[in-house]
Amino acid sequence: MLRGRRIVIGVTGGIACYKTCELVRLCVKAGAEVKVVMTEHATEFVAPLTFETLSGHDVVVGMYGRNRAMSTEHIALARWADIVVIAPATANILAKAAHGIADDFLSTMIIATYSPVMFVPAMNTAMLKAPATQRNIPLLLESGYHITPTGKGELADGEVGEGRMIEPREIMHHLVRALPRAGLLAGKRVLVTAGPTEEPVDPVRVFTNRSSGKMGVALAEMAAGMGAHVTFVHGPLAVPPPIGADCMAVGTAQQMMDAVLARFQEANVLVMAAAVADYRPKVVADQKIKKTTDTLAIEMERTPDILASVARKKKQGQIVVGFAVETDVEKAEKRARERLQKKSLDMIALNVIGENGVGFGTDTNRVTLFCRDGLKTELPLMEKREVARAMWERIAALQAAGS
Ligand SMILES: Cc1cc2nc3c(=O)[nH]c(=O)nc-3n(C[C@H](O)[C@H](O)[C@H](O)COP(=O)(O)O)c2cc1C
Repeated sequence: MLRGRRIVIGVTGGIACYKTCELVRLCVKAGAEVKVVMTEHATEFVAPLTFETLSGHDVVVGMYGRNRAMSTEHIALARWADIVVIAPATANILAKAAHGIADDFLSTMIIATYSPVMFVPAMNTAMLKAPATQRNIPLLLESGYHITPTGKGELADGEVGEGRMIEPREIMHHLVRALPRAGLLAGKRVLVTAGPTEEPVDPVRVFTNRSSGKMGVALAEMAAGMGAHVTFVHGPLAVPPPIGADCMAVGTAQQMMDAVLARFQEANVLVMAAAVADYRPKVVADQKIKKTTDTLAIEMERTPDILASVARKKKQGQIVVGFAVETDVEKAEKRARERLQKKSLDMIALNVIGENGVGFGTDTNRVTLFCRDGLKTELPLMEKREVARAMWERIAALQAAGS
């Protein structure tokens, strides 16, 4: 999701430096090119070699190294970066940046960049609540810098309180949102649904299905990485929610429909990757059903058809994409094509369950795309995030053709 993006990570002297190693790894794994700058004090906590190994680039510490390719590297790096992320950000760097102090490589680069700068504060509660820090944070925000929240919990000194650095995945989430929107979906609003729904039987039991939400999460993360504003409506997920998306949790098919319809008007694209229940109990017992009989029959009724309701509200230029999960290879293609027509979809992604590595819970998927322009694209078995990329590329092409 960060393919081609250039990130400078500035590391300052706090104990949370160890978590920044994981942040660098996640960014590199997501496809970004990462360069690390450390303050002298930060090198007391983690050796530059660790960051050099994780990022694949030399780490810059001092201002006046003689062996540099360029003597004005602080300017070169400031221009190179799509975003500068300071994690952890000490009380000291917040104070320096708030007042334009440039007395080492990192603080000089911060003042020298036109790119967004995001601070991820980490400090003991007293340092965070200190009047100086509390004055500096609004000053930084006024100057256009981004500042992430801090977490609550156990701090390095054993105290429990506010000031912990947020976790690397959460930092990634803020980073993606602070990055200048660029890519195939720049400026587009996309709505993605994912996961199963849960239809209550009684206060303790539900009907649900095996959807993990992985395909939907991959679609949402990839869209955010390609520059879209992403809203993610999801049932209970077996995986962490997507980085870079606004998330909204729902339970039943009815709740998912309400959430989708409320947001569909402003969306350019809707991708329905959720496995929505087709049936729900006609009556939900208000007390737990007791095991008094040998057999139990529960009468079911159809759930609302989200795609049919969406089709009625669809405006010119909006793209709606559905998924079809089939178990019968023979009939799968015919059914998928019928569904494409019947539900007025622009594209349908067909999954035939049965083959290893395909469908629910797996990290890979084999999908065939059928589009309203008649094009059929058979994608090979590949990582769900690569399936997501291929789907968004096809969706962008459909949008361009329709506009
Ligand atoms: C063990 C230890 C942990 C520290 N943790 C933090 C911290 O989490 N946040 C912070 O603002 N300062 C922390 N400090 C203090 C900073 O290292 C100190 O203010 C230093 O001047 C920061 O320099 P820098 O911002 O240039 O890296 C810690 C110091 C020590 C010795």
